[in-house]
Amino acid sequence: MKKHVFGAVCAMMFTLTIGPVTAQERKVLNIYSARHYGAIEAAFDQFTADTGIEIRVSQGSPQALLERLRAEGEYSPADLFLSINAGTMLLAKEESLIQPLDTAIVEGELDPTQYDEEGFWFALSKRARTFVYNPETVDADLLTDYASLADPLWRDRLCMRPGAHIYTISLISSLIYHLGIEEAEAVVAGWVANNPTYIDSDTRIIETIAAGGCDVGVVHQYYLARLLTEDPTYPVSLKWANQGEDSTGTFYNVNIVGVTSAAINIDNAIAFIEYFSSGEGQSGEPSGFPGSNYEYPTNPAAAPGDLIASFGEVVFDDTYPLAEYGNMQQQAVDLINRVGYGMGES
Ligand SMILES: [Fe+2]
Repeated sequence: MKKHVFGAVCAMMFTLTIGPVTAQERKVLNIYSARHYGAIEAAFDQFTADTGIEIRVSQGSPQALLERLRAEGEYSPADLFLSINAGTMLLAKEESLIQPLDTAIVEGELDPTQYDEEGFWFALSKRARTFVYNPETVDADLLTDYASLADPLWRDRLCMRPGAHIYTISLISSLIYHLGIEEAEAVVAGWVANNPTYIDSDTRIIETIAAGGCDVGVVHQYYLARLLTEDPTYPVSLKWANQGEDSTGTFYNVNIVGVTSAAINIDNAIAFIEYFSSGEGQSGEPSGFPGSNYEYPTNPAAAPGDLIASFGEVVFDDTYPLAEYGNMQQQAVDLINRVGYGMGES
């Protein structure tokens, strides 16, 4: 906040003495983004066209960007941190690397479960982690909860993302939240006992299923959506996990933003959050923020795009609050190590 005031004073000085060359007037927004840039380009271009605010993106994994924010502290050039993982944003909040905004900027737009009541973070799209399978070889009725993959029925038939990847850590965090550490550990040990093929790419997991190398995998829905865009007859099907009456709903993660504590261009960051929280900013494929990557809106007024709507109705896991996503990550990493879950390609 101190830096913001300092920036504003500098801006006034420049305006008075040199001319209108201030950070705000340049209308720039610097984003540290963990999102696939290719996927989001259209949405960002539309934002720039509509607002005149130029977006500069620096990319990295959620963990690497968090590490950069820590190292740079108040000198970070980032105004906005865009993560693909709520747990990482929660850590950023805990470590004061992001700052609170007035939540009135999204009230009436975002589902109230999708932003921090203190205004530190705002979720702008959802991605679901669920089953994909070969419909020729798999009876989809046997794919129920994530725990069902521990059934010996799936021995030598699974393709899974390695344990070092944030997608795996987050999914296992959700199991710990719901089942407790012991039961979650038994489930994941059951997966490991089934001798999965570990593949460090959701796309390649799906391609391996299509090629007959595995029968079942766990991936984010947008990877299959991308392949279906190229080939509507792609021979892999999707099933939503944990949809039974007593179950918890399909685990999801979010694309989530927070304004950094070091931010200079705070007004532009707020404009970004307002824009991509709105029904319009969350609608459309490929221009909307969720639609640009076949994800689900967090604004209830926006409908999912046609392609992902074809995956059918899904009940998301809303019993695991986003605010809790950071709490189980270390336990999940320890569990992964204890059960010998694969850390690399196999
Ligand atoms: Fe991804």
